Amino acid sequence: GNILLLNGPNLNRLGKREPDVYGHETLEDVVKSVEETLNRAGHSLTAHQSNHEGQLIEWIHEAEGVVDGIIFNPGAYTHTSIALRDAISSINIPVVEVHISNVHAREEFRHTSILAPVCAGQIVGLGIKGYQLAAAYFLQLSAEGRG
Ligand code: DQA
Repeated sequence: GNILLLNGPNLNRLGKREPDVYGHETLEDVVKSVEETLNRAGHSLTAHQSNHEGQLIEWIHEAEGVVDGIIFNPGAYTHTSIALRDAISSINIPVVEVHISNVHAREEFRHTSILAPVCAGQIVGLGIKGYQLAAAYFLQLSAEGRG
């Protein structure tokens, strides 16, 4: 199947941005490694990053009927965006929410995800390994004939 990897605002700065929190690897490194994992298993990856809420919403809409699963790090929109939550609710595709940092160990305003209730699940605080773990989840679903 085809998996969509979406990254929200400021994640294009990965590797340069607060490396003590987010590490030294770049978004390009992440995309490459997830793509390799999926390709090895005979699946494909489409990856997009945007700093714009509306663009992320449009990619979610366009995924319907095209994609088997979405790996999504919504960045700070996690904590603010009812519109992204409604976009996820509007499609019939499982979404795994990924956060590189342990948002629960950080500021209070990062403890709540507006999106989590409409996602299949959430991977938090495991660094960029979280993206790989989300991909592994979709590979397992597919192996069970559910993806
Ligand atoms: C993040 C956590 C968010 O709170 C923050 O706004 C980000 C990155 C993470 O991956 O840890 O931009 O989603």
